[in-house]
Amino acid sequence: MQTFAPIREKLNPNIAAQRIFSLIKTEMNLVEAEFVRQASSNIQVINYLGDYLRASGGKRVRPALLILSNCVTGGTASSENVISLATVMEMLHTATLVHDDIIDNADTRRNRNSVNARFGNQAAVLMGDWLYMSAFETSLKERRLDILDILTRLTRKMTEGELIQLTTLGKSDISETEYFDILERKTAFLFSACCEIGAILGNAEKDQQIALRNFGMNLGTAFQLADDLLDFTAEEKVLGKASGADLLEGKLTLPLILLVKKEPKWRTELEAIIRDGNYSKVSRQMLLEKLENYGLLEETRKMAYTFASRSIKNLEVLPKSEYRSALEEIPSYMIKRTK
Ligand code: IPE
Ligand code: IPE
Ligand code: MG
Ligand code: MG
Repeated sequence: MQTFAPIREKLNPNIAAQRIFSLIKTEMNLVEAEFVRQASSNIQVINYLGDYLRASGGKRVRPALLILSNCVTGGTASSENVISLATVMEMLHTATLVHDDIIDNADTRRNRNSVNARFGNQAAVLMGDWLYMSAFETSLKERRLDILDILTRLTRKMTEGELIQLTTLGKSDISETEYFDILERKTAFLFSACCEIGAILGNAEKDQQIALRNFGMNLGTAFQLADDLLDFTAEEKVLGKASGADLLEGKLTLPLILLVKKEPKWRTELEAIIRDGNYSKVSRQMLLEKLENYGLLEETRKMAYTFASRSIKNLEVLPKSEYRSALEEIPSYMIKRTK
C-alpha cells in the first residue's frame, strides 16, 4: 500500500497529482476515450467543437473523484457504468465552463481562446446546451433514478449559483454568507455529486455514501477558495486563464470581502476598479500589497485548509486502502496547485 500522509507537506503539487492519478491511470484513459465517443456527433460543427474542447484538456479532477470514490467503496471502476458516469461529470463540468465564460466575458481558458472568444456567443450557448443534454442522455441510459435525481438537482443548483452571482455583481458589500452560498452552488455541489455517485455505483453502505457526499462538499469548497486565491496570485500562463479577472468581472471574493470588513473605505476604490474595468486607479500590485499586509490571502488559505481538514475527517468511516490515502492527499494538492 502506498502511504502519502507523512510526506504531504513536502510534496510538490504536481508530483502529488501524478501519484494520485497514477493509481487510476487505466480508468482515466478509458474516460478520455469515452469523452471522445460522447462528444462526437454526426453533425460536423458539433464534432469540431467537441474536438476543440476535448483536446484543450483540463485537470480532469471530477471524473478522478468519481473513480476514486468508487474504488474506495469496493467498486470495479473500470466497469462500463462507472466510466460512463465519470465522463458525464466531465461533460457537465465542461458545459458549465463554456457557459461561464460567456457570462464572465472571458476570452481565455486552458491556455487557448475560450469557445465564446473563438466561435462567438451564439455557438457557445448552443454547445453548452448540447453538452448538458448529451450528458443527461448518457446518464439516462443507466436507468438509475437515484443518480438522475442527484444530477438534475445539481444542475439546477449550479444554474442558481450563476444566477445569484449575477445579482451580486458589482456589489462591494457582499457578505461572507452570500459568498459561500454562491461558491457551494457553483462548485462544491458538483464535487459532492461526483463522490456520491462513485459511492452509489460501488454499492456503498449509506453511511459511506453520505461520508463521500460530505467529503466532496468540503473539498469543493476548498477548491473554489483556492481558485479565488489563484485569481490574485497565479501567473496567467500557468493558470491557463486570466488572473486578476474576478474583480474586473465585478466579483468580490473572500480576500476582498475581508478587506472591506477591515477598512470599509476600500469599497469606493474597489467600486472604481469594477466601474472602469481596469486597475488604472488602484494598481493590482497595490491591492495585493494591502491584502498581504493584512494577512488576508493567508486567512483565506487557512479557511481553505479548514475545509480540507473537514473533508479528510469525512473519510474516516471508509476502510483504509491506497484509494483512501489518495483521497486524503487530494485536498492539500488542490490548495497548493498552481493551475
Ligand atoms: C474551473 O475548474 C472552474 C472552477 C470551479 C473554479 P477546474 O480548475 O477544474 O478547470 P479545468 O477543468 O482543470 O480546466
Ligand atoms: C467557477 O466560477 C464555477 C463554474 C461553474 C465555472 P469561476 O468564474 O471562478 O470559474 P473560472 O475562474 O472562470 O474558471
Ligand atoms: Mg469564470
Ligand atoms: Mg475563478
